[in-house]
Amino acid sequence: MSVSIREINHYVNTFAKVINKEKVPVYSGNVKVGVDLGTANIAISVITEENQPLAGALYPASVVKDGIVVDFLQAVDIVEKMKRDMEELLGFPLTKASTAIPPRVDKGSRKVITNVLESALFEVTDVLEETNAAAAVLRITDGAVVDVGGGTTGISILKNNKVIYSADEPTGGTHMSLVLAGAKKIPFEEAEKMKKDKTKEKEVFPIIKPVVEKMAAIIKRHLQGFDDVETIYVVGGASCFSEFTKVFQKYIGIEIVKPEHPLLITPLGIALKGGLNKGDERGS
Ligand SMILES: Nc1ncnc2c1ncn2[C@@H]1O[C@H](COP(=O)(O)OP(=O)(O)OP(=O)(O)O)[C@@H](O)[C@H]1O
Ligand SMILES: [Mg+2]
Repeated sequence: MSVSIREINHYVNTFAKVINKEKVPVYSGNVKVGVDLGTANIAISVITEENQPLAGALYPASVVKDGIVVDFLQAVDIVEKMKRDMEELLGFPLTKASTAIPPRVDKGSRKVITNVLESALFEVTDVLEETNAAAAVLRITDGAVVDVGGGTTGISILKNNKVIYSADEPTGGTHMSLVLAGAKKIPFEEAEKMKKDKTKEKEVFPIIKPVVEKMAAIIKRHLQGFDDVETIYVVGGASCFSEFTKVFQKYIGIEIVKPEHPLLITPLGIALKGGLNKGDERGS
C-alpha cells in the first residue's frame, strides 16, 4: 500500500465534515462531481480540481436496486433536487458528473443509470465500477476492495493498478435488517433504525453476524485462485459495525483494512474520477 490508512482517514474525514452541511467555503474554481445511485442512499459529492472535498449530500432512497433503476422518475426527481440544492449551496451551476455501477452490471442498466443523470441535466463524464471508485480513494494498486452496500457485496481484485477480477452478489445491509426484524419481530424500518444505533450494537451484532459470515463466504469464494492478495480493503455502509473486520479476518484469514466512514468512500471516489466542471465556462 502506497499511502497509509492514517492519511486516507484524514482525507475521508475532510469529506465527512462537509456532508449535508448548509454552508460551504466560498470557492469558484474548477470542481469534479460524483453521483452514487446506491440501493440505500443516493449521494452527491463535489470536490475541487485538487481533490479537496467541498460539499456533499446523502439522501436515503430506494429507487435503485443493485445498479438497476426501479423507479426512474423518482430517481430523476431526487438527483435533480440534490443537484439544485448543491448548486444553491455552492453558488454556481454543476454541469458534469460521473457515476458508478456495481461490478458486472449489464450494458442496459448502465445506460439507464446514465439516462437518470442526463434527465437531471448532468453531462455524464464516466460510468465507473463502484469498487474502482473506492480503490481511487484508498489509493491502492494491488489487493482486493470489497464494497458491502445496502443490497450487495461486491469485490474487485487489483493488480498493478488494473482490475483483474470483479464480482457482485446479493447480500448487504438490507439483509442484516431483515434478519434483525425477524429475530426481534419488529417491522423492517424499526430494525433498520435499531441496526444503525451505536448504543445497541452489542445486542444487534450477534444477531446479524451470520449475514457478515455469509458476506465473508462470498468474498472467500471469489478470492480462490488469487493467492497473492495480501490485504482486503472493506468499504460500504453495511461494514460500519466495529466487530465487522474481526469476523471477516477470522473467516477469510487475510488482513482486513477498513477506513473511517466506510459509507462515504465510494461516493468520494466517484467524484475523484469525475470530469472537470470548469469555473471559466460558467459564464455567470
Ligand atoms: N452505522 C451503521 N451501522 C450499520 N449499518 C449501517 C450504518 N449506516 C448505514 N448502514 C447500512 O449501510 C447500507 C447502505 O450502505 P451504502 O450507502 O454503502 O449502500 P448503497 O451504496 O446505497 O447500496 P449498494 O452499493 O448495495 O447499491 C444500508 O443497508 C444501511 O442500513
Ligand atoms: Mg454503494
